[in-house]
Amino acid sequence: MEFSTKSGNPEKQRTGCVVVGVFEGGKLSDAARAIDTASGGFVAGVLRRGDLEAKPGATLMLHQVPKVPAERVLLVGLGKEKDFHEAPYRTALVAAVKALRATGAADAFLCLTDLALKRRGTAWKVEQAVIAVTDGAYRFDRMKSKPDPRKAPLERVALHVSGRGDAKEAAAAIAKASAIGAGMSFAKDLGNLPGNICTPSYLADQAVALGKEHRLKVEVLDRKQIEKLGMGAFLAVAQGSREPPRFIVMEWNGGKKGERPVALVGKGITFDTGGISIKPAAEMDEMKFDMCGAASVLGTLKAAALMDLPMNVVGVVPTTENMPGGNAIKPGDIVTTMSGQTVEILNTDAEGRLILCDALTYVEKYRPSAVIDIATLTGAMVIALGNVATGLFANSDPLAREVLQAGDDAWDRAWHMPLWDDYQEQLKSNFADFPNIGSRAGGSITAACFLSRFTKAYPWAHLDIAGTAWKSGAEKGATGRPVALLSHFLARRAAA
Ligand code: BES
Ligand code: MN
Ligand code: ZN
Repeated sequence: MEFSTKSGNPEKQRTGCVVVGVFEGGKLSDAARAIDTASGGFVAGVLRRGDLEAKPGATLMLHQVPKVPAERVLLVGLGKEKDFHEAPYRTALVAAVKALRATGAADAFLCLTDLALKRRGTAWKVEQAVIAVTDGAYRFDRMKSKPDPRKAPLERVALHVSGRGDAKEAAAAIAKASAIGAGMSFAKDLGNLPGNICTPSYLADQAVALGKEHRLKVEVLDRKQIEKLGMGAFLAVAQGSREPPRFIVMEWNGGKKGERPVALVGKGITFDTGGISIKPAAEMDEMKFDMCGAASVLGTLKAAALMDLPMNVVGVVPTTENMPGGNAIKPGDIVTTMSGQTVEILNTDAEGRLILCDALTYVEKYRPSAVIDIATLTGAMVIALGNVATGLFANSDPLAREVLQAGDDAWDRAWHMPLWDDYQEQLKSNFADFPNIGSRAGGSITAACFLSRFTKAYPWAHLDIAGTAWKSGAEKGATGRPVALLSHFLARRAAA
């Protein structure tokens, strides 16, 4: 996809489609009014007939608008003008892309970026537009025997930016958002690939290829090397699978030598059957997405490299399948983690924390300035926050605020959950230092409590993306979240 900015008049554009906003009550945006005037009141006439509800996200495609050279004009509802803010803006963008995708238009002129938003400037609006278009135009058809017979894909989008001095800001926003969009698409591809293809070895190969493409230093450790490091918990999960585990270490060294890095740690379970504590059959296919934390680490490193961030970042991914089998771990088994602490595995389906805890100990050697782990960790997270907000846990309030702010900037939002000592009480074992599960109550929090026992050496945040990493149902697929949040977090740090 090619993005550009344009300050020209919407009513004069020779393009596949001009996209303009309409508020409730027939109030036209500037761009819609320009089209209306040029066409002798054509738009107002259509609206008077009541064909567009003008609720945020409603769309109406117009053809052959008099005296307008564009092949199509897409009207997009924006809701009430006084309520217009980030959410309706985003909804309008997503709806516009969906409508564009259903046409044969190869290029479009998007005027939504010229709408005024209270809290946000041109850069933000442009960034969101680029990401919405990239996201909406994304297709995953490499596993189909022949690509879907569909209309010509959208190739070029020009964004309307009319303010003086905005063009430069907009161009920088396009560059940043294209990097983030590329990182998200990469993460989505990895997430969408099935478990028989996206194995731990495949993920490792992808990391190596990414390194070659973007000058990242990549190292892949195999089982022997993992054993040497004493990662007893990670290996315990891996022992039930025929697929060998991998421990992936990626470095983006854009900063000064010796500067403390930010470490990103991603859960890379390429398929989670639950192990001996096996999961129910319904929707188990979705457990191919249990490596979306890992995918977000690879995607964010790609974005960081494309943005050429002047900072150091380490990405770490423990990756394995979680399978039942003759050699699989059993409930009650006790393992020794790399930290030396022992864990009683009461439920083999709480495997994410077992692979992450050793990775969290491993990253201590980098003396990181901050560590963020990203994991599809608990079903309880989906119950708590649904598919909108990512759950955020942290042992440092300043770091938590930084992550929340990054999520707000990126509109890839997180919500701060408690990590109080009161919850730690649940993690008691008669046989080992502690078990890998608490009770059902507050399941996401006790999972975070478990991880907190391995993160004493640095400021740490944990993102539980179980509800946000993928969509179920008709639009089943990986979302690429939280690559945008993480990219913003890094970019903010690099700029500070
Ligand atoms: N990968 C799952 C978490 C998950 C479940 C994410 C459903 C998205 C949708 C994780 O490994 C898991 O199985 N967690 C268990 C923990 C429990 C055994 C304490 C869960 O959430 O049920
Ligand atoms: Mn599990
Ligand atoms: Zn899992």
